[in-house]
Amino acid sequence: MMRIFKSPRKIHQTLQTLQKNNKTIGFVPTMGALHDGHRSLIRKARQDHDIVVVSLYLNPSQFSAKEDLSVYPRPLTSDKTLLQMEKVDYLFLPDTKTMYPENFSTSVEVSSLSQVLCGKCRPNHFKGVATIVLKLLHIVDPDVLYLGAKDMQQAIILRKMVADLNSFVKIKLCSTIRDKNGLALSSRNVYLSSDEKQKAPVLFQSLKYVKSLIQNGERQTVRLKQKGRAMIHKSGGKVEYLEIVDATNLRSMRQVRGRVLIALAVRFHQARLIDNIMVVVK
Ligand code: PAF
Repeated sequence: MMRIFKSPRKIHQTLQTLQKNNKTIGFVPTMGALHDGHRSLIRKARQDHDIVVVSLYLNPSQFSAKEDLSVYPRPLTSDKTLLQMEKVDYLFLPDTKTMYPENFSTSVEVSSLSQVLCGKCRPNHFKGVATIVLKLLHIVDPDVLYLGAKDMQQAIILRKMVADLNSFVKIKLCSTIRDKNGLALSSRNVYLSSDEKQKAPVLFQSLKYVKSLIQNGERQTVRLKQKGRAMIHKSGGKVEYLEIVDATNLRSMRQVRGRVLIALAVRFHQARLIDNIMVVVK
């Protein structure tokens, strides 16, 4: 039976008791609207740990005023059913009064990594993410935090936060789950019209195309980015960014070398979608 907690203190005390009894805890933080991407994180946590904890909290501080917080999908009943089917032990389901009481005044910012890629278009987004994830880590105190590779910049920022702030939680990064056409699963895919659903696989196609150009010897990022962007424009998607950066520090580069992240954000009307791919260049 999945137990649901709304109180940070109560879930914390319960989980601390389990840890004292040598149980290990795997933790999957979510904002709900769960899909097979979340399911795969939960299954990894289930394989590795005695106890699986999921949080479901639509965190307002990672949305700007003009973003989609008010229309973000909130299918709580079907989310709970999915979590029960996946044999999650504990669901942490706090409300905003609890997470951000009046006069809440602390935030965490992982400076340079948060200013690039998605951070350029969403200036306070990663501050909101880092702050809520640190709060959740204090509450749950897991052995391992499970994150999806679709949100690679988020994972890189959270790894840095955990290292800088001497948290001992381990972070496990799990592969992006895609539909049969290659579209990365995301709670925001529900914003796509049926016509846009046919076009959206262009995100992954363009990433694979740029990767293949690199593998065939192209090293100039200006040319690579131009070709990737052109492919997306043709499909009708509006490129917010397509960048080729060092996978460790997210710095842009003129010539691809080492472990490289190709990352993009593309807009189809209401839907802003992100995806990425790694390539190692000797
Ligand atoms: O990736 C997400 O769903 C969110 O950014 C997270 C990590 C749950 C924090 O709100």
